Amino acid sequence: MDTTRVSNHPRDLLTARPEWMALEDHCRIIRQAHLRQLFSDDAGRGERFAVEAAGVYFDYSKNRINETTILLLMQLAQACRLHEKIDSMFQAKKINATENRAALHTALRSIPGESIFVDGVNVVPIVQEMLDRMAWFSCRIRTGHWLGYTGKCIRHVVNIGIGGSDLGPSMACEALRHYSKRDLQIHFVSNVDGTDFAETVRSIDPAETLFIICSKTFTTTETLLNALTARNWIVSNLGHPNAVSRHFAAVSTNAAAVTEFGINVENMFDLWDWVGGRYSMDSAIGLSTMIAIGPENFRSMLAGFKAMDDHFKTAPFQQNMPVLMGMLAVWNNNFLGMPSCAVLPYDQYLKLFPAYLQQLTMESNGKQVTAEGNHINYQTAPICWGGTGSNAQHSFFQLLHQGTHSVPCDFIGFCRSLNALPGHHELLMANLFAQTEALAFGTNAADSEAGKQQNKLPPHRQFEGNRPTNTLLAECLTPETLGALIALYEHSVFTQGAIWSINSFDQWGVELGKVLARQLLPSVEVSSRPLNQHDSSTNALLRRYHRHNDIHTAS
Ligand code: F6P
Repeated sequence: MDTTRVSNHPRDLLTARPEWMALEDHCRIIRQAHLRQLFSDDAGRGERFAVEAAGVYFDYSKNRINETTILLLMQLAQACRLHEKIDSMFQAKKINATENRAALHTALRSIPGESIFVDGVNVVPIVQEMLDRMAWFSCRIRTGHWLGYTGKCIRHVVNIGIGGSDLGPSMACEALRHYSKRDLQIHFVSNVDGTDFAETVRSIDPAETLFIICSKTFTTTETLLNALTARNWIVSNLGHPNAVSRHFAAVSTNAAAVTEFGINVENMFDLWDWVGGRYSMDSAIGLSTMIAIGPENFRSMLAGFKAMDDHFKTAPFQQNMPVLMGMLAVWNNNFLGMPSCAVLPYDQYLKLFPAYLQQLTMESNGKQVTAEGNHINYQTAPICWGGTGSNAQHSFFQLLHQGTHSVPCDFIGFCRSLNALPGHHELLMANLFAQTEALAFGTNAADSEAGKQQNKLPPHRQFEGNRPTNTLLAECLTPETLGALIALYEHSVFTQGAIWSINSFDQWGVELGKVLARQLLPSVEVSSRPLNQHDSSTNALLRRYHRHNDIHTAS
């Protein structure tokens, strides 16, 4: 990281704060302690370093911490005015300063009767009205009352969107598949690679297909090209442009562009600029989710979000799950020097959860300047990755146990399976618990019989342990639990951003690539253009690309 332009203003020097330096001093002590020792010295540790909220139990005892660590982390949170920042978010202050917007996704889970004002307008009735419209629309699809152009019921819903307009709804539809209407298939097209669209529509009947074009801005080129291709597919297969109004709906803030595209405004669902793309899966961007699981389940999911929101807003920091989770992430990243983290759901329905969290965490906090624009001299968002437990154990867990990187992990599991086949859930959960034990305690222990045996093993068969994990345990994967889990991660991300003084709600880092792609497109489209306008690498790649295409066209 280039630290030469770091601001010298004391206000901006997070690392010069006494609370930060106290943590650095404390870290030198903690580094000497092994989790084996921390657990053997303190029988109550496993239950004391745990908290429960909104149906989720969060065990953080297998982190390299003690009571002092938590105390010092909370002092840092106070010094960074976390309370004030949380209040500002809930009160719709324009905390997304670079876009001059509030970050008010929490209003999406407000309940009738509440008041939340944005620019003098109470948004709660607007949110409720939108939910009611979504419910009405969803029910018409679900009950077969919505007919396509040729009079057939809808059996396939294709969500076209990318980033937050895809990752949230696709993750939620998969996560809540158990609660979904099984004779309706929900598909997702996001990639501008034509393969995504072609393979999705390959075996579906256009007369039974509804496209939902999800784009907050309605300017995203990938989504607009996929939407155009979808429109051509409908019109050419159903034989008339009038078919569009029966087979397209849209979710956007940009009514003018939606209308220009040809989608009936009656089939358009609003989004508001105070909802960020990666925070929008519980807005109308979740229309496909609501169609899949029904309005009641969708409302239950919102109730789960709200339960975690209320907890985040009111619980004292030391018992506040998102604050603890966020501060532990800061501890592992900035003090223990672990710049990556893995999310490991032990539930097949949550297979898309790590991909969803990658955008949430890294687009939010992958920043190198403060909200005021000063360069910073500390790490921000850890690299987030993961996969479903049990499968991942046979893939990258080798690195988690014996690699040179120490990777803090979140293990997510449920007490009860939604598909209780004999023996399966027991084995799955035994693996979850075993992995957190192995990561924490390893084998190279002189103080246990097993450890002594292991010490006789060659080095490549030994496990050092002392690798931090969190365990999130809930009763069962329900819409409420999913909402609570997502809100937990949203607020943990917020907490981390607040400590690092960054704006977690903009994403200027994606802009340069978009501009260059626009500039490059003509050189890719037309081989006769002079191909020396770029750097020597890009010029050579373009020449090679055209040479191959020319040979292919000629043959
Ligand atoms: O390019 C990044 C991004 O702006 C994300 O933040 C957003 O979720 C995604 O693109 C899609 O944007 P839109 O919903 O406006 O099409």
